[in-house]
Amino acid sequence: MSAGERRSATRTAVVWAAVQRVLDQAAEDAAPVRVLDIGGGTGGFAVRLASLGHRVTVVDPSPDALAALGRRAAESGVTDLVTGVQGDLAGLPGLPGLVEDDADLVLCHGVLEVVPDHAAALATLRTVLRPGGTLSLLVAQRHAAVVARAMAGHFQQALALLDGQHDTGRAGHRFTREELTGLLAAAGLEVAEVHGVRVFADLVPGSLLDLEPGATAALVELEQAVAERPEYLPLATQLHVLAH
Ligand SMILES: C[S@@+](CC[C@H](N)C(=O)[O-])C[C@H]1O[C@@H](n2cnc3c(N)ncnc32)[C@H](O)[C@@H]1O
Repeated sequence: MSAGERRSATRTAVVWAAVQRVLDQAAEDAAPVRVLDIGGGTGGFAVRLASLGHRVTVVDPSPDALAALGRRAAESGVTDLVTGVQGDLAGLPGLPGLVEDDADLVLCHGVLEVVPDHAAALATLRTVLRPGGTLSLLVAQRHAAVVARAMAGHFQQALALLDGQHDTGRAGHRFTREELTGLLAAAGLEVAEVHGVRVFADLVPGSLLDLEPGATAALVELEQAVAERPEYLPLATQLHVLAH
């Protein structure tokens, strides 16, 4: 495993495990599972899911990301299971090839932060989910961003981030658990699970993972152990929610 892969494993393990549980459950009802990955970018998740035999449509506004997705899918031999559609979350479900109430699983990872109208975006995501399907939503979390700014000595930035009023820069909006669950409820989506993601992964020096044998596996185990403990949630760089 390369250094980048080790780092990535510690950051994505909790979300990946949760998504796999959903897929295993959905596959019992109907296989292949139909997955819609909104803002799926270059296909880090999509190609992995297709490699497990699921049918994945990636919607992303970036032509470069979609080209990289195509190359990645070809390298993994899953071109027939991966479809890239250029488009925007706000344009769903009117995009070519997309229909309402169809997806068993909708991924929206790292996108809601940069969308101007969160309530409208969640209402739109709900329209493409089949009844009983699952939304996997991953967003940046505000409290951890405040701590990170303060630890880096950027005290004014930490102060400005406290109430989430000044976080509309390139990284976009950062959510609290209460804010996110409130938005989901307002969109008619029922929260099934909430996970804290990257509670420790971003605090650990990369060199430690590179030098100490077994450190990556141990950190992944720790991330999984704290993911559902509410006392660690404010430290998590990201919030992950499964909703129906
Ligand atoms: C931070 S990346 C996340 C990529 C991937 N989902 C992941 O978790 O690795 C954000 C992605 O969202 C896409 N994006 C930005 N605005 C979007 C929008 N309004 N609708 C859909 N995708 C959008 C970007 O092109 C980019 O690929």
